[in-house]
Amino acid sequence: MMQRFEGQRVIVTGAGSGFGEATASRFAAEGAQVMLTDINEDNLQRVAGQISTAGGQCAAHICDVSSEDDVEALVTNTVNEFGGVDVLVNNAGYSHHQRLMWKISVEEFDAVFAVNVRGVFLGCKHVIPHMIESGGGVIINIASIGAVAPRPGVTPYNGTKGAVLTMTKGLAMEVARHNIRVNAVNPVAADTGFMKGAMGVDSLDEEATAQLVNTIPRGRLAEPRDIAAAVTYLASEDGDFLTGTAINVDGGRSV
Ligand SMILES: NC(=O)c1ccc[n+]([C@@H]2O[C@H](COP(=O)([O-])OP(=O)(O)OC[C@H]3O[C@@H](n4cnc5c(N)ncnc54)[C@H](O)[C@@H]3O)[C@@H](O)[C@H]2O)c1
Repeated sequence: MMQRFEGQRVIVTGAGSGFGEATASRFAAEGAQVMLTDINEDNLQRVAGQISTAGGQCAAHICDVSSEDDVEALVTNTVNEFGGVDVLVNNAGYSHHQRLMWKISVEEFDAVFAVNVRGVFLGCKHVIPHMIESGGGVIINIASIGAVAPRPGVTPYNGTKGAVLTMTKGLAMEVARHNIRVNAVNPVAADTGFMKGAMGVDSLDEEATAQLVNTIPRGRLAEPRDIAAAVTYLASEDGDFLTGTAINVDGGRSV
């Protein structure tokens, strides 16, 4: 049976861990050529090694998504290596430490917008001309359930994800006539490096996990595979009629 992403060229940003790692691995397992990219070189090489060992096709490129030079080089490199880009997953992101908004510095505010918002803008800006030239493509932006149903403590971060959702809708309208679809995924809390960074801890203890789980009707945190499943669905033929929308991968938390 033909694999879902045979012949497809996919870029996944933030592919060195968490959702990006699971998403890149799933695309590769289903036949795609995957360009892995991250700022963490060790993790990037680890994920590239895992995918290659499993028989998948991938390449790796260090890229800070907030730098236009880096993103331009990433896209050029991908086009040179694979011959084009069919799918872009804007996944790289992080959060400032949880605090009330008025206790967050301007530097922290600017830094989180630079990665989470400028990063998505740059990825789209540099990939779309290639997608237009080749007749189409799919972009998936990883936003957050915090953009839809914000809770206290991560307000600027949630603001970045609100911006991502609005850009997803507007861009979808701009590129629809070029056969490019743009959608988002809104994950709920998961035990990844991101969550530890946001909470300012080395590991999530039982109490913190229980507090998060209590807010999720399905009774567990999100797993990277949940996000990979939604992203690959949106990128696949089965997602053909979806554009300008977002899937809440949240175990019912936002209902
Ligand atoms: N984990 C959660 O609870 C959660 C919930 C909702 C949304 N998200 C979003 O999911 C996405 C992935 O996060 P995750 O949970 O897998 O966390 P993660 O920390 O495991 O992975 C994020 C990856 O992005 C990379 N990265 C960070 N800044 C970068 C930059 N400037 N350029 C390139 N790469 C960069 C990191 O090195 C890391 O490998 C993020 O956009 C995050 O905001 C996470």
